[in-house]
Amino acid sequence: MTQHVLFVCKTCAFSKDDRHYLEQPGGAHLLNQLSAAYEDWPLHAEFVLQAVECLSACNRSCAIVLAAPHKTTLMFGDLPPLESAAAILELSEQYFASTDGVVPWKERPEILKKGILARIPPLPG
Ligand code: FES
Repeated sequence: MTQHVLFVCKTCAFSKDDRHYLEQPGGAHLLNQLSAAYEDWPLHAEFVLQAVECLSACNRSCAIVLAAPHKTTLMFGDLPPLESAAAILELSEQYFASTDGVVPWKERPEILKKGILARIPPLPG
């Protein structure tokens, strides 16, 4: 099975006004929530949960990326750190099930219908 990756920026700001909440950046909260849900997630063996320092979407925090060989890479921002984990995992399941990595707008979880920042075609070949 082709390996899929969910990149999560762990340093994104908590909100436009506050970089930290309870002494942690928003990205760390999002990563904690995803990590807590990951073990029981049916696809955890198929997806690497990869924390990164920055995705260059710092003014659109929190930010994530879904990527896999031969699939379109999807990048999302504007994700509330404490309310997005379940929707991100749902989108990841849709991404995994798709043949090309494209998840139609109307099928995406509500919180991910906006905030798409990039849709990058797969490498040729
Ligand atoms: S700090 Fe998260 S994208 Fe830059």
